[in-house]
Amino acid sequence: MDLLKKKIQDEGKVLSESVLKVDSFLNHQIDPILMQKIGEEFAARFADAGITKILTIESSGIAPATMTGLVLGVPVIFARKRKSLTLTDHLYSAEVYSFTKKETSEISVSKDFITSDDVVLMMDDFLANGQAALGLLSIAEQAKAKVAGVGIVIEKGFQNGSSQIRERGFNVESLAIIESLADGQVTFKEEVVSR
Ligand code: G4P
Repeated sequence: MDLLKKKIQDEGKVLSESVLKVDSFLNHQIDPILMQKIGEEFAARFADAGITKILTIESSGIAPATMTGLVLGVPVIFARKRKSLTLTDHLYSAEVYSFTKKETSEISVSKDFITSDDVVLMMDDFLANGQAALGLLSIAEQAKAKVAGVGIVIEKGFQNGSSQIRERGFNVESLAIIESLADGQVTFKEEVVSR
């Protein structure tokens, strides 16, 4: 997605060979026009999948997921990372280990919002080692929902998240795939258009 790649090139800051800072439009300040285009792109890529719900994880997955839900006309659920005062039982939950932060968190979703009748699209802002996406997939499995695929805004192609998810048989659609952050430069992987 050229608009997203341009935004990454113009505003992204390469913090190290493995970390890209994009807090001017995705992780802190949010660019709503870009999010709208991102929502339209995901909706087009998954148009024929019969999606009934979108499942993401707080906090940075919520903006692109909501825009996609708006275009597809389906509800958006975000997995919580912290215990909620009102969300205490009747939960699906999964452990997510962050290699970046070196900590494990438990994510949870109320059983009220995903059922075996649902066709779920998983979404997140970044795909690195895939632990968050695998946690979301575990929640969908617990609910016996069908998984339509995984939609990612920025995939770090040099980490193993997408291969972990594809090995399990799921379709991963990433709008920008970063091949390398070496020498302070963002290099994108050449796109293979599958539609
Ligand atoms: P994984 O889920 O793919 O295994 O990723 P990992 O544990 O490495 O990432 C933990 C957090 O760091 C996630 O956000 C993830 O989106 C984010 N992250 C990973 N790599 C990058 C990167 O290169 N740049 C930026 N900006 N973020 C990265 P989180 O802690 O859940 O934060 P948030 O969703 O509340 O913003």
